[in-house]
Amino acid sequence: MTTLTTHQLELIEKIRALKASKNALVLVHNYLRPEVYEVADYIGDSLGLCEKAAETDADIVVFSAVHFMAESAALLLPTKKVLLPDYDAGCALSDMITAEQLREFRAQYPKAGVVCYINSTAEVKAESDAVCTSSNAVEVTRALPYDQILFVPDKNLAAFVAKQVPEKEIIPWMGYCPIHHRITADQVRRAKAENPNAKVIAHPECPEDVLMIADEVASTSGMISYAEKSPETEFIVLTECGLAQRMVRDMPNKKFMSVCNLCYDMKKTTLDSVYEALVNEQYEIKIPEPIAIRARESFRKMFALTSVPISLPSLTSLTSRHG
Ligand code: 13P
Ligand code: SF4
Repeated sequence: MTTLTTHQLELIEKIRALKASKNALVLVHNYLRPEVYEVADYIGDSLGLCEKAAETDADIVVFSAVHFMAESAALLLPTKKVLLPDYDAGCALSDMITAEQLREFRAQYPKAGVVCYINSTAEVKAESDAVCTSSNAVEVTRALPYDQILFVPDKNLAAFVAKQVPEKEIIPWMGYCPIHHRITADQVRRAKAENPNAKVIAHPECPEDVLMIADEVASTSGMISYAEKSPETEFIVLTECGLAQRMVRDMPNKKFMSVCNLCYDMKKTTLDSVYEALVNEQYEIKIPEPIAIRARESFRKMFALTSVPISLPSLTSLTSRHG
């Protein structure tokens, strides 16, 4: 149970009142500070958050996560106000490839299709054929009709996908998430030696030799549901540290150990910044329409290839807020 200060309790009340009066939806990523969960309409992984954003009839969406996630919501919701409470909340992985670099990469492999992990900028998505998330990367790569796939920007997720889709040639971009990439197989083996009955669950941004030791590899929400459904009671959780805390909170009868690192960008959002976001309607995420149109197509492809029942707004009938 999260212990909340008087100040936090007051903020929670104020945020709930503002949500009601402004018809606002608060989406929160699994890695965020536990006190921010208290004002969430939905807590989830990148795909779940996108799906919730796409189906909402709220006027304002407060996307409590990092920049690329709010940008994704802004792409899916061009007629709504999408707010990122802390404008500096970025993602080191998403900065590891630029649109220019991707154009050059593509030029070297003219017959390849490009699958772009959602942890990337809108400009990079605009240069890709399909977006994927950690929960559908294998499905999207398998279904995209190219024998050769350039997978950007995460080399670890690319290696994981390549193993599941051996019929295709997967050419990775050499980016990585510094938070996950620092988790080592030795650390995991030591944790396993101390807890021999524990199941090891890992995020696919971890290095290949770490994933080989894991019993389950899944998105953050996939890791939670694996632990929920499993008859086992002990787990070693390999990802950002906030996830194991969430599991401890939600599953008090199970035991969670973790080999993890902190993503400081995911911790930048606080109850104060969510409150300020709602009061001042800041910081609105806007994507230039020529980029948004092409990046939205990459999202549309992801939804089509994975049969997600989401229809993005018709490109011709858009009344866009983006300049
Ligand atoms: P999920 O989509 O699995 O939540 O992953 C997002 C992320 O940033 C992992 O580091
Ligand atoms: Fe980006 Fe890694 Fe942080 Fe996820 S954990 S937001 S991939 S830096």
